Amino acid sequence: MTKEKGMYECGACGNIFPKWSGKCPSCHSWNTIAEKTPEIARNGGGKQRGVLLSAEKSHSPGEERKRMGVGIQETDRVLGGGLFPDSLTLLVGNPGIGKSTLALQMARNIALQNPQKPIFIISGEESGFQVLERAKRLGTVPENLKVSTGFRIEDVLETAEQEKPAFLVVDSVQTFSSGEIPSASGSLPQIRAVTESLMYVAKAKHIPVLLIGQVTKGGEMAGPQLLAHLVDAVLQFEGDDRHELRMLRALKNRFGSTSEVGIFEMTEVGLREVMNPSEVFLSGRLPGAIGSVIFPAVEGQRPFLLEMQALTATTPFGLPKRSASGFSLARLSLLLAVLEKHAGIRLSSLDVFANVVGGLKTEEPGADLAMCLAIASSKTKKAVPETFLALGEIGLSGEVRAISQLEKRLREGEKLGFTDAILPSSHKIPKTSLQLHTVRTVAEAVGIF
Ligand code: TYD
Ligand code: MG
Repeated sequence: MTKEKGMYECGACGNIFPKWSGKCPSCHSWNTIAEKTPEIARNGGGKQRGVLLSAEKSHSPGEERKRMGVGIQETDRVLGGGLFPDSLTLLVGNPGIGKSTLALQMARNIALQNPQKPIFIISGEESGFQVLERAKRLGTVPENLKVSTGFRIEDVLETAEQEKPAFLVVDSVQTFSSGEIPSASGSLPQIRAVTESLMYVAKAKHIPVLLIGQVTKGGEMAGPQLLAHLVDAVLQFEGDDRHELRMLRALKNRFGSTSEVGIFEMTEVGLREVMNPSEVFLSGRLPGAIGSVIFPAVEGQRPFLLEMQALTATTPFGLPKRSASGFSLARLSLLLAVLEKHAGIRLSSLDVFANVVGGLKTEEPGADLAMCLAIASSKTKKAVPETFLALGEIGLSGEVRAISQLEKRLREGEKLGFTDAILPSSHKIPKTSLQLHTVRTVAEAVGIF
């Protein structure tokens, strides 16, 4: 067999190399590099068994390889059942979204669960005093939760080596630097050095590490590809700092699925898990509002109802403005063109604003129909009854296409008191108490009202 490029994998850190070597160039472990076993196909978004097995092999037999729960169900679910042993997890999100708060809550819970072991938060963003003051707002601060300020990654390595914490938080990758590298903290070489050092702490010292990363204003993480490659998992915290709802999702997870999402609410006493997301999402809804339609979304295994809103307004002058929040702007433009061409709704001279309520985001194409109906409702000033759901993907010819997991979506609507659903006619109709209105085209859907 010819040796393909990228066919050697380190059993300790999981990085892949084109050549075999005795010592891993990334995590510096010895004798951990082996020819990569073909990756076993993902099992319905489940665990990547191939990778999991090779990571397990790197450990001495008999050693416990259990995931560590972080005491927050929503976070554990996104991680795939808790923190994986010896793993480096990167937590990214906009400034102010709640990364430090989430890390602190995880650290506090782990400290409470492991009273005999120290847990460390090393922050370059805030003083130890500030972090502790914040911790006090969340409840009692366990004695084994240690907080310190730091800027040098060498100090972090030393702390890890001496204290052997059960969990280490480093906040944030941009504020730490290595004395061996001449460039400033936050530069790509420093970010790489900091991340690689922490990978070493995780793999060689067997300490699960959570590294926080700021996202720059434009939504880009400094050196995103570089960082994502270097770590085991990337969790992204989303939401809007003006809204209290937050979503945590895995952008990458070497040890689990990337389809689960955790939902939180920011309160005065930290992040609270949201177990009944639909109720929370719909709580501020105005009855009989125009430009508002509910889409039953599914994230991971969980359905929840999202309010899609649209506002159309006469452009005061010049080019009409289009803006979308929580919804793709390119998708919105496409839907506007389809509505104009196939449903005869004149929109080209109007400003159009689209929004997913609660600072949330959806990338499901199945949200198209609800968004189209919201736009049409705003334009015609006729409300879609508040007990209606709408779901379906819209194609360029104005056709409404089937989407997955229909039953689960309708059931969530039933549970929350909805009475009707507008859906593509191509679906096999499941058993439901909802009154169903099947449509083939977006024009038919708009014509219902
Ligand atoms: P923070 O975790 O510092 O965000 P990040 O690390 O992502 O920059 O928290 C962000 C905001 O959350 C901050 O403005 C204060 C607020 N907050 C609360 O509302 N309640 C709380 O209990 C805490 C700790 C913070
Ligand atoms: Mg912070």
